[in-house]
Amino acid sequence: MNPDAPLLFFDSGVGGLSVLQPTRELLPTASIIYVADNAGFPYGERSEADIAARIPALLGRVVERFRPRLAVIACNTASTIALDTVRSALELPVVGTVPAIKPASEMSKTRVIGVLGTQATVRQPYVDDLAARFAADCTVIRHGSPELVELAEAKLAGAEVGVDSVHEAARPMFEGERGSEIDVAVLACTHFRLLDEELRAAFPGVALVDGGRGIARRIAWLTREQPWPAEPSPGIALFSGSSPNRSLLSALARYGLEEVRGL
Ligand code: DGL
Repeated sequence: MNPDAPLLFFDSGVGGLSVLQPTRELLPTASIIYVADNAGFPYGERSEADIAARIPALLGRVVERFRPRLAVIACNTASTIALDTVRSALELPVVGTVPAIKPASEMSKTRVIGVLGTQATVRQPYVDDLAARFAADCTVIRHGSPELVELAEAKLAGAEVGVDSVHEAARPMFEGERGSEIDVAVLACTHFRLLDEELRAAFPGVALVDGGRGIARRIAWLTREQPWPAEPSPGIALFSGSSPNRSLLSALARYGLEEVRGL
């Protein structure tokens, strides 16, 4: 294995940065390629067939060009719909991001859990299955919020995002039957961890869980016998649509993505 072979992270936009961060903490010298399919954004409003067709084709091209050692689908929408399709299309290990219902169930005292994702993710049978396997004795309340996805993108592009707008976007989840009993909310969209501060301020007392750290540990384990570069190198971000503005470029640099190109 070439020590410079990168880890590939993939999302529709900037959400995957919330998965990249804990991975960089564990594997600080790993070379990184980050792909944002912003020409296809937002995935949460696309059909299952569209997502399942789009992602393997796009990733196939990137894999051929950069020869990563492993790919991370740092997107719950893409993973809950197309993980199997991507795995059979690519000849490398693929790690997905799926709603952290298991840890949420382990933490919940009220046995009422919220799952906050995109509209596409919350309707997936994959989520029914996770709820049945890991939270059978819990009431699992789901809410799809395209507004939160947009707010996360806006925040990284330099807009002021207030606690009120974040509260407004997630509020319906807490207002339905038993909603007020939710003590743990699963951030089932990788964009939402980027609004961590605002979500905590908007819903104090609700624990927020996501899969970022678990994914980082999984990547470290899958690559445990592989060599890494001695020093970190600048990561590369590829955008399939419009180029990032100045604020987003600085945000990407904070995540180690110092080189930005079109896809
Ligand atoms: N970040 C994505 C997720 O985890 C999708 C956001 C979107 O494109 O709608 O689901």
